[in-house]
Amino acid sequence: MPIAQRISRLGTETAFAVAARATAHKAQGHEVFPFHLGDMNIPTPANIMDAACQAMRSGKTGYCPSAGIPELRAALAQDVNSSRKTNYTLENIAIQPGGKPVIGKFIMTCMNPGDEVLYPNPGYPIYESQIEFHGGRAVPYRYGYDHQGFHLDLDYLESLVTPRTKIFILNDLQNPLGAQCTTQEREYVAEFVLRHDLYLLLDEAYFDIRYSGQSQSLVSIPGLAERSVILYTFSKKFAMTGWRLGAAIGPQNIIDITSRLNVNDESCSNHFIQYGALEGLTGDQSGPKQILATLKTRRDMAVELLNATSGVHCPCPEATFYLFPEVTKLMRNKGFAGDYAGFAEDVLVKTGVSLCTRLHFGCPQPDEVRSYIRLAYSGITTQDIKKGLSAFQAYAQS
Ligand SMILES: Cc1ncc(COP(=O)(O)O)c(C=O)c1O
Repeated sequence: MPIAQRISRLGTETAFAVAARATAHKAQGHEVFPFHLGDMNIPTPANIMDAACQAMRSGKTGYCPSAGIPELRAALAQDVNSSRKTNYTLENIAIQPGGKPVIGKFIMTCMNPGDEVLYPNPGYPIYESQIEFHGGRAVPYRYGYDHQGFHLDLDYLESLVTPRTKIFILNDLQNPLGAQCTTQEREYVAEFVLRHDLYLLLDEAYFDIRYSGQSQSLVSIPGLAERSVILYTFSKKFAMTGWRLGAAIGPQNIIDITSRLNVNDESCSNHFIQYGALEGLTGDQSGPKQILATLKTRRDMAVELLNATSGVHCPCPEATFYLFPEVTKLMRNKGFAGDYAGFAEDVLVKTGVSLCTRLHFGCPQPDEVRSYIRLAYSGITTQDIKKGLSAFQAYAQS
């Protein structure tokens, strides 16, 4: 029986394929150092677990409102208002089973078939997948690189706009680059979005995963909240990746439609888990602080080891839990110039280090000459970072 045509346009998160290869390698008895997936091996803070268990035991096991429990929506509005200088109320919030569903629901709500959507490349692969699945044209924008890190290529961005451009997707504090916009870039994007009359999806999954400085949201700039939806997630800040809880935050008309999509898709997000998240937002904050401290120790160690590796240069991001080192020279030295798949497999087999490459985050631009890998340090202990990256250093040297 034929499968519906639209399925041929549905992409995937190819990092999961790397995870499958790592698991198979481990099953053969090899040691594997998991730098590939942005999952977390840090436990969810105990007060959050207790609150969720308590809610489950006290009967919060039935359906709840499709937009989420009002207490959580109100607490999240308050939290976001204090960090982003906005005026949201609970009406601006639709709780979701994770941050990821916000992407597809926003695109379904704001994009017509044939519309064009600007999205980051390298970037989180689900944007392109959802745009194309829903009949839009995915138009990648790009980043420039200097030894400090990655910056939006603003001239290139301007050249991509057509009368059909409808949405701009910004993942400031970016996966996989670890990049963050400068104040000038944020102001430029704000002016750009207003000048071209675009909707804005602000993927702020890593807003709270920051080791120094202060995260800034474009939604704080006058005129943007009216046309923006924030992708919020509990996954990273509270180490709750497997709990599946997030939110769409934006203008009430879009949020009402998002809630209607919730009714059609999952009815509501998991009921008792929302009480855990409420405790996360309003209770003792030592858990998230400890999570950040753990991640910072891992980042510092990984960046130091990578920068001491022959043929590798690794900028040190202030936020996210990803590193995107340049490995052009190393790949050339090892005889893998331009062959990402061969390089990743060779590294896995010879060192046990499992990683993603630039290819997992979109098609390289035709004039892209440098090569990169992505390492996530959210799911690996400092001990294994040291062991794995020391093996990687020895590999690079040999
Ligand atoms: C940039 C970005 N956006 C959204 C998500 C989705 O997060 P979740 O669905 O786990 O909340 C992720 C997860 O890794 C991400 O990296």
